[in-house]
Amino acid sequence: MKRKVIIDTDPGIDDALAIIFALQHPDIEVLGFTSVGGNKGLQSTTDNVTRILNYFGSDIKVYKGSEKNYSKTVDSNFNLSIDYSKEIIHGSNGLGSAVLDKNDALISDKDAVTFILETIEKYPNQVDLITLGPLTNIAFCIEKNFDIMKQLKSIHSMGGGIHRGNRTPLAEFNYWFDPHSVNKVFELGEYLPIFMIGLDVTHQAVLDMNDLTFMQLIDPKLGQLINQMLDSYILNYWENQRILGAVMHDLTAIVGYMYPELYTEVLDINLYCSTADDVTIGQTIITDTAMVNSHIPMKLNVEVYKQHVIKDIFGQEALNEYTTYLNNE
Ligand code: RIB
Ligand code: CA
Repeated sequence: MKRKVIIDTDPGIDDALAIIFALQHPDIEVLGFTSVGGNKGLQSTTDNVTRILNYFGSDIKVYKGSEKNYSKTVDSNFNLSIDYSKEIIHGSNGLGSAVLDKNDALISDKDAVTFILETIEKYPNQVDLITLGPLTNIAFCIEKNFDIMKQLKSIHSMGGGIHRGNRTPLAEFNYWFDPHSVNKVFELGEYLPIFMIGLDVTHQAVLDMNDLTFMQLIDPKLGQLINQMLDSYILNYWENQRILGAVMHDLTAIVGYMYPELYTEVLDINLYCSTADDVTIGQTIITDTAMVNSHIPMKLNVEVYKQHVIKDIFGQEALNEYTTYLNNE
């Protein structure tokens, strides 16, 4: 039985890898993609979802997300202004150096919030929501109809971090971008499982340069595309953090969703996201409240993670070649 998922995303290079994984995986039925502003502005992220789907010849629909930032609608003091054009980590258009045609025909007239609520109502307790960007759309869904959102099967959200930040030393980008939306979403944590795939675990799942070269050799077409996407991303991580390789945050979230046994240590805790107008804004903070509202993987089995990435994106033959190569190293 295929798993029914909705993927909320702000492509973004690591979003693209996660979308490719979902499109290639035989046991995932993506009911729809919803776009959100984050890595780039909302129109760019919406177009980028269509670019990836168009490349794979997919006819899955894209539902454009909210133009408004949730925090700005609930907090008159919240003032976040980002000039997306200056955001270089994902390259000028959000997909590194990859040049892919967009496909406007894939963009539905229906907005993201309407699509998410209608889909959950159609498939009660069967839909897993995977979020790869700020939680803006999901917060608006909850504000519009909490009872329907309680009928989600689960949420797997890339964001936050217990011991790490990346947009600030304390805050991870997705949650920092719209912090009030995080707290709105975690209200659901009392009713359904929410997995917060934070920086603590995504920074363990680094695809190294051998992995990336292997991808290019084993599948010149797709491998070449992935490497084109990653060039500016790898340069940025090397220059700013002296990390050599691809830290694929969003890919970690969807692989862990499919294979939770990858996670070897998970915190079951209560947390909130700081909305204070100070250095803590966007930080995910553990509380001593007994009510568990989130499950946070803190460690994962990297070798098995990489095997799933290779097999599910490139196929069993590629995995055989990969394991042979590793065994002969
Ligand atoms: O902090 C990492 C997250 O921010 C990822 O989802 C990346 O795509 C960016 O959106
Ligand atoms: Ca993302």
